Amino acid sequence: MSESSFGAPHLNPARVVLLGAGGHAKVVAATVMAAGGEVVAILDDDPDRAGERILGVAVGGPIAVAPGYGLPCVVAIGSNVARRRVSGLVAVPWATIVHPTAIVHRSVRLGEGTVVFAGSVLQPDVTVGRHAIVNTSASLDHDGVLGDFSQVAPGAHLGGDVSLGEGAFVGIGASVHQGSRLGADATLGGGSFLRRATTIPPGEVWGGVPAKRVR
Ligand SMILES: CC(C)(COP(=O)(O)OP(=O)(O)OC[C@H]1O[C@@H](n2cnc3c(N)ncnc32)[C@H](O)[C@@H]1OP(=O)(O)O)[C@@H](O)C(=O)NCCC(=O)NCCS
Repeated sequence: MSESSFGAPHLNPARVVLLGAGGHAKVVAATVMAAGGEVVAILDDDPDRAGERILGVAVGGPIAVAPGYGLPCVVAIGSNVARRRVSGLVAVPWATIVHPTAIVHRSVRLGEGTVVFAGSVLQPDVTVGRHAIVNTSASLDHDGVLGDFSQVAPGAHLGGDVSLGEGAFVGIGASVHQGSRLGADATLGGGSFLRRATTIPPGEVWGGVPAKRVR
């Protein structure tokens, strides 16, 4: 990780509260810890999760108590739709978390609530919005733009000048050729290849090699 703050006001803070206690929260917690932070609490609105432990941290709730901690929070939920909903439930400062093994060029801008996972690579002049996910070993080449609440799944690769609209999703192991666009809430399925300078319209789901509309 570079010494730049990537424009994030709460980059890898010392103490963090996670919102959401599913499988994705386990990896977010591991990422916070790898970056030298402490996960103080994990909050969930599902009362059945109370008393569970994630990497040694007790699960509590509800999410509405988050402001009482006075700490930066992360919505640790993999679903783009659920992450957007939960981010609107509480008024808290949002942490930005970057795993120490991620390679992030100092020109990259990262929004609040965004998490960059282990082994990912973000090349010069990439811009990532708020509450986005750059998952394990994903790569974003030069000048890429990820909208708020968007996600690039593990092992997916984006060529230069690729943009994802708000809530868009690139599935596990997919490849997106240079200059392509995903509209808001568009999905590219896992393992797919999107041809050069192709646009997926908002809300559509594409998949295959080469990718075509599937619904
Ligand atoms: C693309 C995707 C979202 C579609 O899921 P879905 O809406 O449930 O759609 P279905 O599984 O019913 O498939 C619909 C059609 O798309 C095709 N399809 C689904 N996923 C595909 C993919 N990745 N590549 C090519 N075609 C795909 C199916 O074969 C099916 O075709 P058919 O109608 O001719 O039979 C899903 O398959 C996918 O790839 N999700 C990515 C998951 C992921 O990366 N998770 C990461 C977690 S960290």
